[in-house]
Amino acid sequence: MITSRLEMRGISLAFSGFQALSRVDFTLTGGSVHALTGANGAGKSTLMAVLCGTHARYEGEIIINNQPVAIREPVDAKLLGIHLVQQEVDVALIPGLSIAENIMLDHLAQPGHRYRWGTVREQARQALAQLDVTLDVRRSIDSCSLAEKQQILLARALSHHCRFLILDEPTAPLDAHESERLFAVVRRLQLQGIGVVFISHRIHELKAICDTLTVLRDGKMIESGPMAELSGEAIVEKMLGHELSDIYPPARPAYSDETLLRVEGLHDEGLLKDISLHLRKGEILGIAGLAGAGKTELCKALFGASKSRVSAGELNQQPWKPRDPADSVLRGLALVPEERRKEGIFIDEPVSMNLAVSADNTFSRWSLFGHRQAWRWAEEVIARVGVRTRGPGQVLRRLSGGNQQKVAIGKWLRGNAQVLIFDEPTKGVDVKAKTDLFQLIDGLAREGKGVIYASGEFAELVGLCDRICVLWDGRIVAEVDGADAREETLLYYSTGGTAS
Ligand SMILES: Nc1ncnc2c1ncn2[C@@H]1O[C@H](COP(=O)(O)OP(=O)(O)OP(=O)(O)O)[C@@H](O)[C@H]1O
Ligand SMILES: [Mg+2]
Repeated sequence: MITSRLEMRGISLAFSGFQALSRVDFTLTGGSVHALTGANGAGKSTLMAVLCGTHARYEGEIIINNQPVAIREPVDAKLLGIHLVQQEVDVALIPGLSIAENIMLDHLAQPGHRYRWGTVREQARQALAQLDVTLDVRRSIDSCSLAEKQQILLARALSHHCRFLILDEPTAPLDAHESERLFAVVRRLQLQGIGVVFISHRIHELKAICDTLTVLRDGKMIESGPMAELSGEAIVEKMLGHELSDIYPPARPAYSDETLLRVEGLHDEGLLKDISLHLRKGEILGIAGLAGAGKTELCKALFGASKSRVSAGELNQQPWKPRDPADSVLRGLALVPEERRKEGIFIDEPVSMNLAVSADNTFSRWSLFGHRQAWRWAEEVIARVGVRTRGPGQVLRRLSGGNQQKVAIGKWLRGNAQVLIFDEPTKGVDVKAKTDLFQLIDGLAREGKGVIYASGEFAELVGLCDRICVLWDGRIVAEVDGADAREETLLYYSTGGTAS
């Protein structure tokens, strides 16, 4: 087997005066899994975008097997066997088309190409089979979960001759089991001699699967070498430029016994069955579960963003049932949704506008856009949540993935929300931002607000929550006290284990 070798040398790229990459060197060899890491906005996705032909005006050299190559358009990269599974999966998929069409998109887009639907579907199925995935390829892409969409993009990459594969935060939408399955696929590709770039904010994943590591900070290459030589702590220190000791806030004393929200016997039209839960003032209630357990469904149902029936409920000492999002917001309930790009933000609007339109309308008495107050508020949130942006006027699309996330969260910091529901808030955010976010949520609880925190990251639930309900197959199968909670216990219940 001939090992391919790809070198990027002295890569620089500026966006209207902002230096996103400064003389970065990066080498990828076939058969290796190379971790690319760094804080939100460090330049990881941009460096890989250069490699995939998105930015024609980069400076520096790209060399494959000792031959300089020019990659100025996406098609150049594809012809060289370089394929990318993007961080924002939705951008790369065409809504309204089937799974098969989305997988075979590049083939179908070739001019003069004649195809038979039966063959297209069969090829799509074969590409999925390489991932050990079976999906009905005639289904519409719109009905797919995030995890499925990501598998579809991976299948698309594998439908080509692929020498170098870039996975930009592939595990962000996956739970522990799905991630394990992906790792098995990556190891197989590695054995086939494919060079894989693996971007992730989960250091333990990088340690588990990658043999080589490159750390970027502020658009510069800080470190590159064998993974085994660096501990997790050392990697974090290289990423941030300083140490990070306590990720989780110190234990909070119980705030009060007063119940803020209670539902009984909640059912939705599909998955959720007979859910009863309550949330006290000043409490952080965790909702643990693997993908498909119903976390997102539960968050949406409580917020009234999906239909549900409940037998009884109260909110702020008033009888209450989830009705619709507008009603929820008026009653002081807020949701930071999981699929933020689709549901939580306006991607082509500036940060200031995104932050101003949290749903409670306090700015709308004045003219909204560019108003000094909205601007000042945006500056405050940017500082509080640590959004890396050039200012409130920057359009969200231009922010890195993790920073878009922070804006979606920052949106809810204003206003009268008494109960905040977070659905997987730390997906795609770096360790430092996670720590800031935990502190922020802890602060909300200390103020007496109630927080519902749904996550498949059990370590986070254990570190942060006062109580944790475990969901399995749409039901709450266990409730664990935060002080005694252990990750293994949560995993046990969330895979269908029962209390003996
Ligand atoms: N098209 C663009 N125009 C202007 N600035 C951009 C553009 N694309 C990226 N940037 C900026 O370049 C920097 C690097 O962004 P990039 O998306 O590469 O970060 P990242 O390391 O992938 O972060 P994350 O972990 O959040 O995904 C950010 O400050 C971002 O705002
Ligand atoms: Mg990125």
